[in-house]
Amino acid sequence: MEASQPKPFFFFISLIHLFLFANSLSSFQDLHIINAERRIDLSSHIIKVYLTLKVENLGTSPASEVHLAFSPTEVEHLAIVKAAATSGKGKKKTYSPLGVQSADLPDGPNGTKFFSIALLTPLSKGETITLEVHYQLTHSLEPFPVEISQSESQLVYFRDSAILLSPYHVKKQTTFIKTPSKRVESFTVVDPVKRSGTELKYGPYDSHPPYSYSPVLIHFEINNPFTVVEELEREIEVSHWGSVQVTERYRLVHGGARHKGVFSRVEYQTRQGHGSGASSFKHLLARLPAKVHSVYYRDQIGNISTSRLRTGFVKSELEFEPRYPLFGGWKSTFVIGYGVPLQDFLFASSDGRRYLNFTFGCPLVEAVVDKLTLKVVLPEGSGDPTAVVPFQVEQRLETKHSYLDVVGRTVVVLEKRNAVPDHSIPFQVYYSFNPIFMLAEPLMLVSVFFLFFVASVAYLHIDLSIRK
Ligand SMILES: *[C@@H]1O[C@H](CO)[C@@H](O)[C@H](O)[C@H]1NC(C)=O
Ligand SMILES: *[C@@H]1O[C@H](CO)[C@@H](O)[C@H](O)[C@H]1NC(C)=O
Ligand SMILES: *[C@@H]1O[C@H](CO)[C@@H](O)[C@H](O)[C@H]1NC(C)=O
Repeated sequence: MEASQPKPFFFFISLIHLFLFANSLSSFQDLHIINAERRIDLSSHIIKVYLTLKVENLGTSPASEVHLAFSPTEVEHLAIVKAAATSGKGKKKTYSPLGVQSADLPDGPNGTKFFSIALLTPLSKGETITLEVHYQLTHSLEPFPVEISQSESQLVYFRDSAILLSPYHVKKQTTFIKTPSKRVESFTVVDPVKRSGTELKYGPYDSHPPYSYSPVLIHFEINNPFTVVEELEREIEVSHWGSVQVTERYRLVHGGARHKGVFSRVEYQTRQGHGSGASSFKHLLARLPAKVHSVYYRDQIGNISTSRLRTGFVKSELEFEPRYPLFGGWKSTFVIGYGVPLQDFLFASSDGRRYLNFTFGCPLVEAVVDKLTLKVVLPEGSGDPTAVVPFQVEQRLETKHSYLDVVGRTVVVLEKRNAVPDHSIPFQVYYSFNPIFMLAEPLMLVSVFFLFFVASVAYLHIDLSIRK
């Protein structure tokens, strides 16, 4: 196959690549980072990194974007990248959010991938700008030991570089790493490094050329829940008869060090809080919309009553317990269902269409969702739906048939991999609706009753005729 492809075409493509790369390289050389400060928060299994970069343009042409570099492993686990330009200090500090995108550039040395931050106004020669970048990584803590018994604490490895991976020259930089407890088994020393309490400070380091890298390995204790939802399907059914019904199917796993040996409930219950099953979790917390009603929680066996619901004006909280505490590698499959009032979530748009405004993401606190599927089931008779989601998702349409349906309902399916709590933000599904369909369901009901009536009459008639 490949041999049959026209060679000039490939040549042309490579030329474009070469041109693009050369072009980006020249702009890479124009910028440099005067100061980089990185704060890495390891207190949860969702790693949060805050990066402050002071960038200066040394070139002659204005720069309209600044690039971030990530290792191939980081890119695979990157859940979110945000950036903002800041100015001023303290209380007068202002933030202007900037767009960040995966850059369409060839990989850098060792497979480095790039993201580009689009500046609001190009940075002219000699100008500086301060950028604040925030990104989150999932599945980046590696349990070691891989297996632990019920009485052991969980230890993990975290790998990074003491020096910021960047396509630019970095004049000065410091990295602060915050661990969840004071128990740090070991860490790579790259002088100067300082440890105090739950903080490790790498640097300050002077002048490093582009793509410098200095691997560090940190081995530390973490017993916070590794709530991983391997798969979550949320079905949001809109009924013009007054409510939005939500059904959420979870396949949850404890993503930490695997549990070894037998589980002792007695030891678990009597020594709780004294280290037994320290990394396990028993309670789950889901943040649900305000005014939820008819909340239920069930698993394969049936309804589970050990749940507590607190409803509020802004949000409600559902605290619940799986049937058994979850240890590393253990799974739990369950369903949460609830209804919310239609008028809180369905609105009329200015173009005469209707739209649902609902929250994306997973209601479980501090959970990573490997695969999230959101299904918005529109009422019968809805047409040309469009989904507006503030980040990239996969979209498709399906049709769902349930009883009393005449033509079936349009289902907007949205899929997202590697979702974190920051993805729990509003999204909208716009659709047009033919009000005649409001009559479809009652008409169906009426016809069903009518048919039943006719059938009964016929039956009675036959019955009588036999007796005669
Ligand atoms: C990148 O590659 C070079 C040479 O192949 C190697 O010396 C260096 O350690 C690598 N850096 C990383 C971050 O793997
Ligand atoms: C479970 O609870 C829901 C809501 O309270 C209820 O509608 C349903 O009938 C219950 N199912 C069982 C099997 O008890
Ligand atoms: C959706 O709801 C949120 C609050 O729940 C609100 O801030 C936002 O403006 C709404 N979006 C639209 C398009 O109505």
